[in-house]
Amino acid sequence: MCGLIAYVGTVDAQPILLDALKRLRYRGYDSAGIATLSQGNIHLCRAPGKIEALEEKVALNPLLGTMGIGHTRWATHGLPTEANAHPHRTEHVAVVHNGIIENYDTLKKSLQKKGVVFTSETDTEVILHLFDASLSKGNSPQEAAAEVLPQLEGAYSIAVLFAQYPHTIIGARHGPPLAVGRGENGSYLGSDAFALGGFTDEIQYLEDGDWVEVMDRSVTFHDRDGLVVDRPIVHSHGVMGPVGKDGFRHYMLKEIYEQPSVVNRVLEAYVHPTQGTVNLPIEYEDLKDVKRCVILACGTSYYAGLVAKYWLETFANIPVEVDIASEARYRSSSLCKDCLCIFISQSGETADTLAALSLATQTGCQTLSVVNVAQSSLDRLSRMTLFTFAGPEIGVASTKAFMGQLAVLALFSLWLGRRKNHITPHIEKARLQGLIELPIHLESVLGQAQDFQTMASHLYEKRHMLFLGRNLMYPIAMEGALKVKELSYIHAEGYPAGELKHGPLALVDSHMPVVVFVPSTPLIEKVISNIQEVRARGGQIFLIGDENSLSKLEDVAVSEVKIPGVQEWVTPLLYVLPAQFLAYYMACLKGTDVDQPRNLAKSVTVE
Ligand code: F6R
Repeated sequence: MCGLIAYVGTVDAQPILLDALKRLRYRGYDSAGIATLSQGNIHLCRAPGKIEALEEKVALNPLLGTMGIGHTRWATHGLPTEANAHPHRTEHVAVVHNGIIENYDTLKKSLQKKGVVFTSETDTEVILHLFDASLSKGNSPQEAAAEVLPQLEGAYSIAVLFAQYPHTIIGARHGPPLAVGRGENGSYLGSDAFALGGFTDEIQYLEDGDWVEVMDRSVTFHDRDGLVVDRPIVHSHGVMGPVGKDGFRHYMLKEIYEQPSVVNRVLEAYVHPTQGTVNLPIEYEDLKDVKRCVILACGTSYYAGLVAKYWLETFANIPVEVDIASEARYRSSSLCKDCLCIFISQSGETADTLAALSLATQTGCQTLSVVNVAQSSLDRLSRMTLFTFAGPEIGVASTKAFMGQLAVLALFSLWLGRRKNHITPHIEKARLQGLIELPIHLESVLGQAQDFQTMASHLYEKRHMLFLGRNLMYPIAMEGALKVKELSYIHAEGYPAGELKHGPLALVDSHMPVVVFVPSTPLIEKVISNIQEVRARGGQIFLIGDENSLSKLEDVAVSEVKIPGVQEWVTPLLYVLPAQFLAYYMACLKGTDVDQPRNLAKSVTVE
């Protein structure tokens, strides 16, 4: 992960670098640093912790110069200390790096044999010393890049500043994305268009293997063979402006409340305004020979994929496999030419999901990405894209992006079902109506925030908890458990309710809270039996259901919340909201950092 920024131009670099780092903090917030160059000297300031700590430090001792590099870190090699914070520097060079240098140990030993002394535990420091050694032989920055980059194995994007070259920054990409922007006051290099928002909306992306010389008024791209190449300009349309909390206590809470609008935006984009049918910007012609779907994603996005499996199998009668991208990327045999591979991602930059896309492309599969960030790598590299229209999601724990993913996948399932003639136009319209009515029900659950706060007050001091659900509620149980883990640091597991007796029931005693999602569905009686199994072992039951289901479960729960009844197939979109609220209020009561939980980052660009 990590975010990097570089600037060469005519105005003070420090405020530009700090501004960009604030935009990039969703990539990591373990430590931050900047380095600038003036009169042949590299000036450095680094601080462990969030960017505010760096800001306080540079306010006391501002760094001079009209060019510089900056970094916000998500620790991979070495603790989040000042010594391990980027930029790393020698007298002649400073470097920032996103990614992992896999052969760093070999390179480090070889440099140490030559007498190089390392001052950090990071893999990045080898890049620094390789550049330094190359310059000391009299090489220019360009010659040093040509010599050093082929020695690096792994995934990286870097920016390098040279004390003796006051107009040149070298950037390189091997894996994680790197974008160049040119504005009125100079040139920029950043981890993504988000970093460059506010400075310019004309972006050029480095392709894999490219390196680039960034100067005040010119940018020269080189491909992996060193040949000078051109890269297309894309426009980010200013979508990356600063995002406020709009009076909410946390970004996460604001994003939870935005969810009815996200569903409405997806419906506006993908439902025909007069015919009331699903209308997607993709061609069925490209998909008519598809025999199987493989859905690939990570974390919360993977759970959206698990929900989509139920929908696609029901509406489109197509076999669906859902795989965690970090597992699938090393199992090429699971893909074949007649597969449609669907990639789900908020950021569109998750390294494992991108690797799975690359494998699918090589195999000749059809590729469709469901992404939130336009112009992200997944959007650019997959054959078809459907956007989730969630808008910038700042809270590290995904909420509204998941809602957008579910809404898009729901529509895609209906669309495919209709095209394959597995559902009639009547069924399409009837199901669509359930989705069209959903925002009203979401609003109604948002009005019940206080009830979830009360339920959270019973849970936030627990050390463990279970979430149960069956069928469409099983992925939501896992999503609820993930939210609790990441926000409250409480160990939580999501299980299919029927699976409990095959092992996890041994965990249940009077100290174990068990949250059950129990909408009225044909499986309600089965879920009720599973709840009784937990009660018989003294487990504490917490119920989220509708009027009908809860009427069958009187006097069972420590606490319960009644939410509206909706069409069964859209229950995942409604029931995830209570799960998000619970996790949110548990974290608030516990006093953890809701928007930036420990050890995490918003965009996971390392494997
Ligand atoms: C959890 C969460 C993560 C992401 C995962 C994939 O709240 O946000 O589990 O869902 O890191 O990220 P994207 O969707 O950007 O590929």
